[in-house]
Amino acid sequence: MSSPVFTLNTGAKIPAVGYGTWKSTAEEVTAAVEYAIKEAGYRHIDCAWGYGNEEAVGEGIRRSGVPRDQLFVTSKLWSTHHSKVEEALDESLKKLGLEYLDLYLVHWPVHLNPDGNHPAFPTRPDGSRDIVTDWPLSKTWEQMEAVYAKGKAKAIGVSNFSQKKLEEILPTAKVIPAVDQLEFHLYNPQHGLAEYLKSKGILPQAYSPLGSTGSPLLSDETAAAIAKKYDVPVVGILLGYLVAKGIVALPKSVTPTRILSNLKDTVTAAEKLTPEDIKLLDGVAAGGKQKRFIMPPWGVDLGFDNWE
Ligand SMILES: NC(=O)c1ccc[n+]([C@@H]2O[C@H](COP(=O)([O-])OP(=O)(O)OC[C@H]3O[C@@H](n4cnc5c(N)ncnc54)[C@H](OP(=O)(O)O)[C@@H]3O)[C@@H](O)[C@H]2O)c1
Repeated sequence: MSSPVFTLNTGAKIPAVGYGTWKSTAEEVTAAVEYAIKEAGYRHIDCAWGYGNEEAVGEGIRRSGVPRDQLFVTSKLWSTHHSKVEEALDESLKKLGLEYLDLYLVHWPVHLNPDGNHPAFPTRPDGSRDIVTDWPLSKTWEQMEAVYAKGKAKAIGVSNFSQKKLEEILPTAKVIPAVDQLEFHLYNPQHGLAEYLKSKGILPQAYSPLGSTGSPLLSDETAAAIAKKYDVPVVGILLGYLVAKGIVALPKSVTPTRILSNLKDTVTAAEKLTPEDIKLLDGVAAGGKQKRFIMPPWGVDLGFDNWE
């Protein structure tokens, strides 16, 4: 099974279904990535320095035997690295064992103290996150543009950027972000932000598209009724809904049967869903189910509706 593709504002193609690697342990992720690529047909792998497993993911990519130019690999700049983008990208490339990334994202619009008391999550004496409060995000973005110009990343983008945060970089940006990776799913559809991104030529990507681990989305009644109508699993409806709306879906699983079915069922559902089905699914969150699952305690206003 192969994924449909979308086109980035660089002209590059990106598979609409990608394979997520957050929370996958180094021990399990090599085999899972190898299986996802070789057996299930994924060609898009979503990684990050912050997941602490890039070496093991890279090993899975190598073991798949699929040529590099047939894969789309993303990694992300961690928050303690905003002042040293190229160095951080080089480290991710080394860990993954790759010469270039297809997409490099600023993981969060937050710069954490690079010289703090922890390499990834530095804290202040009161326990709050040790944020560099006077750091302009445009300084991070300029460095992202530089690694793009060097060809180390074939596309650059952002993650967890609300409209407010995007407006801190867009006025001076020479390169418009190709992607904004956000928590998008049935219970957090962010219709306004998705429209804004499309108006700027920025492709929305959905992380935690199933609502992450232990999710109530899997038993949602509206999704279940549509799943029954088409004889497709609910997961396929949840993911196919996003793809049908032009949003990249990034499901994670380390379970082979799920890795396989997640891609297959998404493609099936995306083809079957009608505009009426989509309208119904679009209204679920507004009907009292609105919920965000990923809310790290940054301690700053990121510009999202229901955030801190
Ligand atoms: N940019 C960011 O800040 C950010 C934040 C969060 C996530 N992400 C990216 O998005 C990816 C996906 O998000 P996520 O990992 O939070 O959550 P998710 O993909 O929404 O959900 C993953 C969970 O669902 C389970 N699952 C997967 N397929 C299933 C199926 N067919 N039936 C039942 N359960 C199933 C998985 O279990 P098993 O693995 O045990 O099968 C896992 O517990 C991440 O891996 C990461 O690449 C990015």
